Amino acid sequence: MPRPMIVGNWKMNNSLEQALQLVASLKDSLTPNPNAEIVVCPAFPFVIEVSRVLENSSIKIGAQNMHSAQSGAFTGEVSGSMLAGLCEYVILGHSERRSLFGETNRFINIKVVSALDNGLKPILCVGETEQERDSGNASTVVRTQVKSGLADVADITSVTIAYEPIWAIGTGKIPSQEAVHEIISHGIFEVLQEIYPDSYNIPRILYGGSVTPQNVVNFTADPLIDGVLVGGASLDYNLFSQIVALTLEAKAN
Ligand code: PGA
Repeated sequence: MPRPMIVGNWKMNNSLEQALQLVASLKDSLTPNPNAEIVVCPAFPFVIEVSRVLENSSIKIGAQNMHSAQSGAFTGEVSGSMLAGLCEYVILGHSERRSLFGETNRFINIKVVSALDNGLKPILCVGETEQERDSGNASTVVRTQVKSGLADVADITSVTIAYEPIWAIGTGKIPSQEAVHEIISHGIFEVLQEIYPDSYNIPRILYGGSVTPQNVVNFTADPLIDGVLVGGASLDYNLFSQIVALTLEAKAN
């Protein structure tokens, strides 16, 4: 599995026309790179149309969420079995899902298991609030989210973990390189080594939160970080393609 990875999380943005234009431009301009994974995550109704545009392209598609059940009376929800075959990745446990829709570590864990059962590759999001950071608890919070999110997951080969400090998402504020390194090593890397002592395949680790072309290298220069999860800047073709190019350059060194 190639390590460098750049994921665009479009959230509830883009009309169908804008979505198709954006992926058509990305498809035309990004040189296929077998050593990297580029993923766009449109809203559910656009997944099929976007995947048609991306046929024969190396750009992959992800969903922004899914329900843990296979089917049933869950009005408004989408299951992993419905997404299987339409997209390769699924973002789970995004802080907006946790804070606005009350998703718990336990619920997110069941979704991770269900995603894997359905052949989808989960991108598990973790991260602390500003208050948790200020009280010195960031690594502990992230540790718990990683441990709980991966409970009952035996094979982590196709899991990606995105560290996104909640206070950095959509705010233009970013943590220092040192702080990110510290939290990723203690809150993520050490935990993975503890729970999977025999695994040769440590999941890819991404940074997310106000990533722009100006700051992306602050994060991707860290050898523990394989790439970025980009929100706002992924809606803009110029910004996103610059972030892709800068990440690949940083990771090639
Ligand atoms: P942002 O969002 O880049 O707009 O801060 C990141 C995310 O929510 O994944």
